[in-house]
Amino acid sequence: MIHLRNITKSFGQLQVLKGIDLDIVRGEVVSIVGPSGAGKTTLLQIMGTLDRADSGTVTINGTDISRLGQKALARFRNRQIGFVFQFHQLLPEFTALENVMIPALIGGTSRKEARQRAEELLAFMSLTDRATHKPAELSGGEKQRVAVARALANRPAVVLADEPSGSLDTQNKEELHRLFFRLRDEMQQTFVIVTHDEGLAASADRTIHIVDGRISALPMSDIMPDVAPETENPSPEQQIIKTYLA
Ligand SMILES: Nc1ncnc2c1ncn2[C@@H]1O[C@H](COP(=O)(O)OP(=O)(O)OP(=O)(O)O)[C@@H](O)[C@H]1O
Ligand SMILES: [Mg+2]
Repeated sequence: MIHLRNITKSFGQLQVLKGIDLDIVRGEVVSIVGPSGAGKTTLLQIMGTLDRADSGTVTINGTDISRLGQKALARFRNRQIGFVFQFHQLLPEFTALENVMIPALIGGTSRKEARQRAEELLAFMSLTDRATHKPAELSGGEKQRVAVARALANRPAVVLADEPSGSLDTQNKEELHRLFFRLRDEMQQTFVIVTHDEGLAASADRTIHIVDGRISALPMSDIMPDVAPETENPSPEQQIIKTYLA
């Protein structure tokens, strides 16, 4: 459903992505992990049509997005891609319900239909009794769930989330993660989630490691030995690093 082929991206002299190939199928929860500055956000922005690659192709639901002009691209993004950021980015002057309705209204859906969809989504997230609250009157976890509802308003092909639980406490974090999997199970919703959360990465259907501008075939435990599961025979490298971290 999403196909990335040989994606490269530089900022000036800095080559951030050095040839990324990635295929994502419908109903998959894919997590993207890697050190700070590895290019995770850059890759997500390219996948989400918010930024353009220097070379390579991004195909989403059969559309090669590099062929779309500005206007068609904005329309495509509105219809096919939902975004969830680390900080909710809800519009403060609108209620939870109105925030969730906005993408549908922008996409030309009638007010009535947009409202119905928004109410359904808020109900799915157990937020019906918060629908008329403005963001300032919601907890951090509630705001993030409203942001997820907003991302789903137009039944997008994929929801792209950049550290969605990065600013939440443990309980809200776990609730948000469960919500992602419930949406996958009940709506076949596809997610690509950049995360530093080991628990989320571990429970994803697939975890992509970005290291030095490329997708690493190595498991996380080889890249970050300190998170390696205890093994009978740690490698010499793991031994050394363990010693340093002890
Ligand atoms: N618009 C930009 N102009 C110049 N450099 C940029 C720009 N955006 C990102 N970079 C650089 O590209 C590299 C990758 O950035 P990116 O935001 O993708 O990292 P990341 O993997 O998301 O890191 P983090 O985990 O800290 O969020 C960084 O070195 C960053 O400073
Ligand atoms: Mg980032």
